[in-house]
Amino acid sequence: MKIQSLRGMPDLFPEDLERWHLFESKLAKVFNSFNTHQIRVPFLESTELFLRSVGGASDIVNKELYSFLDRNEESICLRPEGTAGVIRAIIQKKQEQETHKLWYQGPMFRYERPQKGRLRQFHQIGVEYLGFEEGISEYELISMVIHINQSIGIKDFTLKVNHLGDEQAKESFSKALVSFLKPHIDDLHEKDQSRLNSNPMRILDSKEQSTQILLEGGPKFQDFISESSNKFLQNLIDAFKDQCNIQIDHSLVRGLDYYSGIVFEAVSEDLGAQDAFLGGGRYDNLSQQLGGKQMHAIGFAIGVERILELFNTQNIKQPPKVGFIVTGEQIPQKTSKIAQDLRVANNKIILQTFLSNGSLKSQLRKANKNNCNFVIIIGDTELKNEQVIWKDLSEDGDQELLSLQEITDKYINL
Ligand code: HAM
Repeated sequence: MKIQSLRGMPDLFPEDLERWHLFESKLAKVFNSFNTHQIRVPFLESTELFLRSVGGASDIVNKELYSFLDRNEESICLRPEGTAGVIRAIIQKKQEQETHKLWYQGPMFRYERPQKGRLRQFHQIGVEYLGFEEGISEYELISMVIHINQSIGIKDFTLKVNHLGDEQAKESFSKALVSFLKPHIDDLHEKDQSRLNSNPMRILDSKEQSTQILLEGGPKFQDFISESSNKFLQNLIDAFKDQCNIQIDHSLVRGLDYYSGIVFEAVSEDLGAQDAFLGGGRYDNLSQQLGGKQMHAIGFAIGVERILELFNTQNIKQPPKVGFIVTGEQIPQKTSKIAQDLRVANNKIILQTFLSNGSLKSQLRKANKNNCNFVIIIGDTELKNEQVIWKDLSEDGDQELLSLQEITDKYINL
């Protein structure tokens, strides 16, 4: 029997990864322009890290953690997200009192029910700004989100934003919500009934219609946060409303426990049921929760598989592709030297070799199949005369015989 990959853990082949690389190179430019630097932390961490950060009552920890005992009987897990590991690393390096602008990327693991847009191994690219209190950093991160979307041509998205206040506001609201909902417990969806005890605020973003109808008459979160928090939220919306579709959504609480202050999520109707392709917010208490010093923090993570669904690469100019066709009884050292010199002369161009002694016809067919724009053809005669044939593969493209110097000049200026 053939061994299959695990459910929800797809392989990524070269044809899939072309888009990824394009996306990553665009993002690298955005991060560079914000002077944000990469950090790499392990995929495996102690289970305790996520219990104390993402939260024991969250779905991610409760139901979705890939956690197991290692050979030393320690409980470890595959990271379900990147934020906790980054904060653990900063605390471990005793750098909580410095400022950091960091980004990271890599696979995350959640034992979810696989479906379109929901995987068990998926990838995130995340950003964490550490050491900056509420204020300008919210503006900078929202403009980074807009910048990222613009850089890959995503126009139709909604940025939902909410303010979760401080711990006190969250606590008072949770209490009020529980007292309001308890008498109606039978009208709540089963899933929401269990949240009533474990994580009442998550009931707000329940997808169940019966729950949402009930909530209409319940306490409103905005009444529990301070006037200044409400004002901060409104100012943020006003600042960006001309740049994107940004909206206040008081039911946005996010599925991770560490947030306080501003939270946000970017959603697109083009993604179907799993419509969020980016989420984040402020989490000023996480460092202390993990045993570190107080550290202001705000960040977000992009779901790479989801955002790539929205990335239209059609109008992106690709570098020219040149097929390198060698025919006859050639000595590979000589022709490979020509190819090597061309690659050194201009490494932006893709020079595709076919590594076979097939006929000119069959190699030309391969060049067309591989979407080459041009081909260089070297037969015995050309090699003897230190020349190559340059052929433009477009419909009315012509063909010319060039010296090695001439082909190098052409190649540099392509
Ligand atoms: P999150 O909302 O759990 O936040 O995940 C961020 C994004 O990862 C989601 O918006 C979604 O696009 C993608 N994602 C999540 N689960 C899956 C899945 N099973 N399959 C495919 N994509 C998925 C966080 O993880 C926070 N650490 C973000 C953050 C950074 N907050 C502050 N800093």
